[in-house]
Amino acid sequence: MNYKIALIRGDGIGPEVVGEAVKVLEAVGEKFGHTFTYEDVLLGGCATDAVGKSYPDGTAEKCRACDAVLLGAVGGPKWGSDRPAEQRPETALLAIRKDLGLYANLRPAVLRPALAGACPLKKETAEKGIDLMMVRELTGGIYFGKRDRYQTEDRGEEATDLMAYSEKEIERIGRRAFELSRLRRHKVSSVDKANVLETSRLWRSVMHRLAAEYPDVEYEDVLVDNCAMQIVRDPGQFDVVVTENMFGDILSDEASMVTGSIGLLPSASIGDTAPGLYEPIHGSAPDIAGQDKANPIATILSVAMMMRYSFHLSAEADAIERAVDAVLSAGWRTPDIAEPGVTPIGTRKMGDLICAEI
Ligand code: IPM
Ligand code: MG
Repeated sequence: MNYKIALIRGDGIGPEVVGEAVKVLEAVGEKFGHTFTYEDVLLGGCATDAVGKSYPDGTAEKCRACDAVLLGAVGGPKWGSDRPAEQRPETALLAIRKDLGLYANLRPAVLRPALAGACPLKKETAEKGIDLMMVRELTGGIYFGKRDRYQTEDRGEEATDLMAYSEKEIERIGRRAFELSRLRRHKVSSVDKANVLETSRLWRSVMHRLAAEYPDVEYEDVLVDNCAMQIVRDPGQFDVVVTENMFGDILSDEASMVTGSIGLLPSASIGDTAPGLYEPIHGSAPDIAGQDKANPIATILSVAMMMRYSFHLSAEADAIERAVDAVLSAGWRTPDIAEPGVTPIGTRKMGDLICAEI
C-alpha cells in the first residue's frame, strides 16, 4: 500500500525528531512492503516567521489530502503570549484540532520495563507497572467556549471563559473510550467534577447510559481531584481514563511524569474521518534544539500509533514498539533518560539503532 503523510516538523527539536521518525517509516516500508510519501506542512512559530501567521491559509486542506499527519513540536519563547493570537503556535494547534475534527486525544502513559528505575514513585508502586490510556476530549469545553474580557464599573476588569458540552460531544468521546477498553483490560474510569459542575453532571449521565451498553467493561466515576491523587498513589489501577478537555490536559501531564520519561510518550488525535494527527507529548525544547540531544522515541512511537489507529497495521506497530524496547533493553539512552554513569547517545544514533532493529 501507499500512504501519504503530512509532516509538520514545527519548531525547536521538532524537525530533528520528525527526521528520525521518517527514517523509521522508511524501515517499516521496506520490511512490510509499503511506500510512504510525504508532504511538508508549515505550522507553528516557523510559520509565523515565514508567512506572518502560525496557521497559514490552506493548512487544513493540505492535511486533509493526506492519510495521516505527523507533528514534531511547535512553540517556543520567541512566540510568547505578548504576540497577537494569529502569531502564536498554540492558536495553530487548537485550530488544526478543530478543523480536522480531532475530538479524541489518546495519550498512553506506559512505564517501559527497561526504564522502571526512572519512575519517581515508590519502588513497590513502580513494580506493579503503569499502562494507562488517557482519552482526552479535544475539541470542546473551556478550550473552545466563548471568552470575554471587559471593564466593570466597580470591580475593575473582569474575564470569563465558558465551558459547554453537548450530549453528542460527550457520547462520541465516551464511545471511543469504551471501544478502546475492549482492546485492553476492559476498564473505563470517567473523570469529572460532578459535585460542582453542571457540565460534569451531564457528562456523568451520558457515561452511565453508555456503561449500560458495555456490560463487559468495568466502569467507575472518579472526581478529578481524587484522580490527580490516585495517579501518584497507585497509577496501576487505571486502564482507560476518559475526561473532558482541560482535565485531560492537566492529568495527561501528570500521568506522563509518573512514567519518568516524557521523552518516550506518543499521542494520537483522531476523529471520525481521516487524517488522524500523531505527535509526541513533549514540547519543542528550544534549549536543546539542533544539538542532536533530543529523544526521538516519543515521535517514533507516535508513528507506531499511526500504523495502529489510522492504517490498521498492527504488525507494523508492534514491530516499531518491539524495536524501541529492544534498543532500550540493550542499554542505549539519550541524555534525558540516561542513568548516572551511562554515556548517552544522540538523536540520530537512537533513530539508526531503532531502524536497524526493525
Ligand atoms: C497539550 C498542550 C496544548 C493544550 C497547548 C500547547 C495549547 O498543553 O497538547 O497538552 O493545552 O492542549
Ligand atoms: Mg498540555
